Amino acid sequence: DKVLAKHGFGTRKEVKKLLHTGLVSVNNQVVTSQDFKIDLECDSLFVDDEKINIRTNLYIMMNKCQDVVCSSKDGLHRTVFDLLDEEDNHSFMGGDLHCTGRLDIDTEGLLILTTDGSLTHKLISPKSEISKKYAIILRDSVNSENQQKYISACKTGIEIAPEGKEAGFISLPATLEFSSDNTCFLTITEGKYHQVKRMFKVLDNEVIFLKRIAIGSLKLDENLAPGEYRELSNDEIKKLELIGFRFD
Ligand code: URA
Repeated sequence: DKVLAKHGFGTRKEVKKLLHTGLVSVNNQVVTSQDFKIDLECDSLFVDDEKINIRTNLYIMMNKCQDVVCSSKDGLHRTVFDLLDEEDNHSFMGGDLHCTGRLDIDTEGLLILTTDGSLTHKLISPKSEISKKYAIILRDSVNSENQQKYISACKTGIEIAPEGKEAGFISLPATLEFSSDNTCFLTITEGKYHQVKRMFKVLDNEVIFLKRIAIGSLKLDENLAPGEYRELSNDEIKKLELIGFRFD
């Protein structure tokens, strides 16, 4: 009953009724007991002759809006979990739903929430090679000569000062493209605390709008308004799983 309920066949009570109809089968055997233990790896589950693609984890793409935080509890602010429908905001078969990394309270854009701990480990590991692309609006316009300076500083690496308890560091090579005097796209392969904002601070500018638009080859779905979310498709999950590690 748990597997059926997690795959949208209703509440545990509704699923119990469904089982009693005899429409549920596992490996061609009708199953009526709610306690039947299905082998998630090997068994074939059918409901009304339709094969059910069993998922053990939940994968959500959210277009995070501003003014919400990426933690599960925050006394002061709404959290990204408050944006989820009740039916999605719970553990799935694979574990608890959590954010894979964080975006600042005033940052918008692509956020992955999942119950899949091994994917999360891969996405947030400092050894992960994953690129993250951000759309940025800068406080000050940058003339073309200085745009070249910004681009080459990002390419070479920028020496970032410590911030609060966070240590300073030299940023890894990053790609910057300007789309106007004060709008640009930055692709980085790491995710240090306030990284993008700190990079532009060193360049004597300030990020006044920040939106993550891609993680690796996974792009933010433009149909999602800020605060909206949807499940990832199987192809999109594969895109994340194919992300490699840097072995150094
Ligand atoms: N860099 C930042 O400064 N903030 C974010 O939210 C993400 C990257």
